Amino acid sequence: MEYLPVSIHGKYSSEENTDDEEYPMIPTATPSKSRANIFVYVSSAMLLSSIIIFAAAFTRVPSELECAKRVSPWSSMWDAIEFWEGDTKNSFNHSTIYRGPPTPEREQAWDELWHYPGMPVSAAGLAALNKTNDGEHVQINGSNPAAPTYGSLVQVFHQLHCLDMIRKYTWYLTGHYHQDDESIEYPWDFVNPVAGRMHVDHCIEELRIDLMCSGDITPLLVKYDKNRAIGRVADFDVHHKCRDFEKIVDWIKVNGVSVPFAPGTHH
Ligand SMILES: *[C@@H]1O[C@H](CO)[C@@H](O)[C@H](O)[C@H]1NC(C)=O
Ligand SMILES: *[C@@H]1O[C@H](CO)[C@@H](O)[C@H](O)[C@H]1NC(C)=O
Ligand SMILES: *[C@@H]1O[C@H](CO)[C@@H](O)[C@H](O)[C@H]1NC(C)=O
Repeated sequence: MEYLPVSIHGKYSSEENTDDEEYPMIPTATPSKSRANIFVYVSSAMLLSSIIIFAAAFTRVPSELECAKRVSPWSSMWDAIEFWEGDTKNSFNHSTIYRGPPTPEREQAWDELWHYPGMPVSAAGLAALNKTNDGEHVQINGSNPAAPTYGSLVQVFHQLHCLDMIRKYTWYLTGHYHQDDESIEYPWDFVNPVAGRMHVDHCIEELRIDLMCSGDITPLLVKYDKNRAIGRVADFDVHHKCRDFEKIVDWIKVNGVSVPFAPGTHH
């Protein structure tokens, strides 16, 4: 490779310009024309594809719904899902309708958390849930045999039913329900101590599985508090990012299906 001075007029010349100090040097060795063309073509193509990949990565942000779907099992109810973010209140002495001994209003409030119809599930849904379709699963009334619709319960309602069972059991064990009090439904599940205990244990286990499965790693902070002997108190007003529960209830009220199953539960 030989170096020649660059002409200030844009021409290469070894005859006119010989002063090395006045003109910067550039290489004159040039690859063959076809190799140069391939090089330009390949680098342009690479640059273009990098730009496209870059643009795609940074302009196409997946929605919260898309992200939630990716990390969740199949459901018929995704149209109902919306999110909200904020702190939930639950300090030790915080008062809500759901806390306290049974009253007609409290029993009704709990019932309204979970006592809803079932969810229809398509054949594609059954397959996505890895439940082989061999006639094992119950179809709803009016299901088309060519394109069956299966009956299901919604897991969040099952979870809330379970929490309600445990709540009732704690009050039952301390004598708060009375068979002669018609204003408050008596929890007949508990009359048979073995069956009642089994139902409650099933519910505790269900919630244990679900809490471990969702593995919530949100920080629960601690606040300074001069009124406490230890000088601090847990900040139970935990920050949450939640699915809008009301939207789930609204969906099932419109689209829910009747799914009776074995007696022994309230569904
Ligand atoms: C709960 O306790 C805190 C501090 O002890 C007090 O400031 C607050 O008013 C109490 N709230 C209720 C609902 O009793
Ligand atoms: C799907 O079901 C089959 C048969 O029960 C089982 O072997 C397989 O592990 C399941 N796959 C998943 C991802 O659950
Ligand atoms: C299905 O329809 C039959 C006849 O109308 C009715 O008796 C039954 O209760 C229905 N079952 C469900 C699950 O809705």
